[in-house]
Amino acid sequence: MRSHRRRGAIGGASALAGLLCATLFVAPASSAAPTSAPAGVSTDALTRSGHTLPYKNPRLATKTRVADLLARMTLAEKVGQMAQAERADVAANPAQIAELGLGSVLSGGGSTPAENTPEAWADTVDAFQEQALSTRLGIPLLYGVDSVHGHGNLNGATVFPHNIGLGATRDPKLAERIGHITAEETRASGPQWTFAPCVCVARDDRWGRTYESFGESPKLAAQMAQMIEGFQGDKRELDDPDRVLATAKHFAGDGFTTFGTGEGDYTIDQGITQASRAEFDKLALSPYVTAIKKHDVGSVMPSFSSVDWTEDGLGNPLKMHAHKELVTGWLKEKQGFDGLVISDWRGIHQIPGTYAEQVATSVNAGLDMFMEPFSGDTVGYPQFIETLTAAVEDGKVPMARIDDAVSRILTAKFDLGLFEKPFTDRRNIDEIGSADHRRVAREAVAKSQVLLRNRHALPLSGRDDVYVAGSKADSIGDQAGGWTITWQGNSTHQIPGDTILDGIESAARGEVTHSPDASAPVPAGAHGVVVVGEHPYAEGFGDVGGPRWGYDPGEGGVLRPALTMQLSDADTEAIETVCAAAATCTVLVVSGRPMIIPPELLGQIDALVASWLPGSEGKGVADVLFGKRPFTGKLPVTWPRSVDQEPINIGDSDYDPLFAYGHGLKTHR
Ligand code: GLC
Repeated sequence: MRSHRRRGAIGGASALAGLLCATLFVAPASSAAPTSAPAGVSTDALTRSGHTLPYKNPRLATKTRVADLLARMTLAEKVGQMAQAERADVAANPAQIAELGLGSVLSGGGSTPAENTPEAWADTVDAFQEQALSTRLGIPLLYGVDSVHGHGNLNGATVFPHNIGLGATRDPKLAERIGHITAEETRASGPQWTFAPCVCVARDDRWGRTYESFGESPKLAAQMAQMIEGFQGDKRELDDPDRVLATAKHFAGDGFTTFGTGEGDYTIDQGITQASRAEFDKLALSPYVTAIKKHDVGSVMPSFSSVDWTEDGLGNPLKMHAHKELVTGWLKEKQGFDGLVISDWRGIHQIPGTYAEQVATSVNAGLDMFMEPFSGDTVGYPQFIETLTAAVEDGKVPMARIDDAVSRILTAKFDLGLFEKPFTDRRNIDEIGSADHRRVAREAVAKSQVLLRNRHALPLSGRDDVYVAGSKADSIGDQAGGWTITWQGNSTHQIPGDTILDGIESAARGEVTHSPDASAPVPAGAHGVVVVGEHPYAEGFGDVGGPRWGYDPGEGGVLRPALTMQLSDADTEAIETVCAAAATCTVLVVSGRPMIIPPELLGQIDALVASWLPGSEGKGVADVLFGKRPFTGKLPVTWPRSVDQEPINIGDSDYDPLFAYGHGLKTHR
């Protein structure tokens, strides 16, 4: 297994030799450190001989530093490292970070500082870091965030197309460029860890997380996992100010659970993957082989979903958060994954049993860090620490498992350079949302557009008068989708960038009329563009037939129509009105997945484009509409004739979709 852990001056010497060598210089803890410290080394780390404690010596190999630090840690300090709290919770009492020796804090979707600016983010992360550094051993904090299409929680960040649109580009190098820009904007604002990319394989588009996948093909997911290279660079670069630790998620099979087995109110999300081992290998595990072997991904997040092997006779689903055979057996032992496994949000609470059983089961299954966001009345990180400590003392969890978990966590922190540079390096903070970054996002938007049908309508000529209608034409909140400013996203969100209408208005030299419901008259000879689609959602709230309530922190319960993959009546009427009156009629679908276009409606449409969730740079859509760039996108998922066809995927025996996987018409500049 290729590993690029940073090498100290002693190169690749074995950890033991390194430790022996380094130990010679470690004076007893009681010795007074000399007063004169070499430049850049704090005196508290010095020993009488003038050498730093091994774990504080950047010239030593990471393995040596980890071994030394681990040997110094108490059980409480080790278990604390395995706990991850949520920003809002610890913000109420930051001293808990030091008191409990927490290993990590995250910002859940939409969990932003009061002032949602890069400086406020960096100040927040650094204040928490101060707490961590004040502990006995001064182990720095890891801060994680869902930078899943750019640093979407941060207002002003470049917001890229969601993964399903990137899958349509079939451009792994572009994914890498996007990963690098996202890493730069994330790290410059504080977080050093992103919970991305999702290498999930969406096999049933009724799943609310279809747009977080690169598509229905595991090969395509593996190709687009190149994004990890952009996030991390070569592991030796992880301590650079434009790199972050990446996370391959959600391990594994999250994208092909059986409809109807969803967790709680969800119809399919977090459900049960009923598969043979061979099918699971091919559809669920194969992208992780690439993420680990080719890209050396630094962390993996298990799925909320369960696996039920058909060979064993269905009826015995096992949660991935409890799956020792897959997490330890396949991921760590067979694939040699040497990064850290981070649980999903309270994921262990879905394992049957008491909390003590959930903790022991998941730790023994091979999870290393636990996203237990809360404290107080909701069981969370304080109880996790208490419960795991008791489990070790009672012999239910072996110390060797704790040491393995903590070694993985410490290795990530050393690789990220956090012991030498714990605070945010803000040199790139002004690059956040820069014109250069937005140019790359605009290129990605253009390349993600898939031309499904074109009866001599596209490209439009700049001279044409254009009539724009539809609910999604002028809504940057809709085109950004979920994981933007808030967890669920929202149609009303305003972020820096351009809507699709902005793009059309800047590209057209003719008259542009905008009438969302197509109530304004269509000027004679005008060409129609109707932009329709879905409102934003995230996770199970996007499941077809799923919960009607979307929850947005700060926006309370948001009542939304249940999602159906059908066009709204208003959008359908707008299409019919415009297509009946305009010279040509183009329909753009802004959505996280295919939407159903009934035959009688399709017959009225001249050109049909899958626009997916393009993010902040709506001008990229106009670039292909007006021929500034050619259409090159290809469907990353099969486009069904009706919802009843789901799940429908390339290779199915009775495969009869409206548009096949890989379909995409070309135009020429
Ligand atoms: C969510 C998601 C996961 C995300 C995590 C932290 O529930 O399942 O993808 O990384 O919580 O926000």
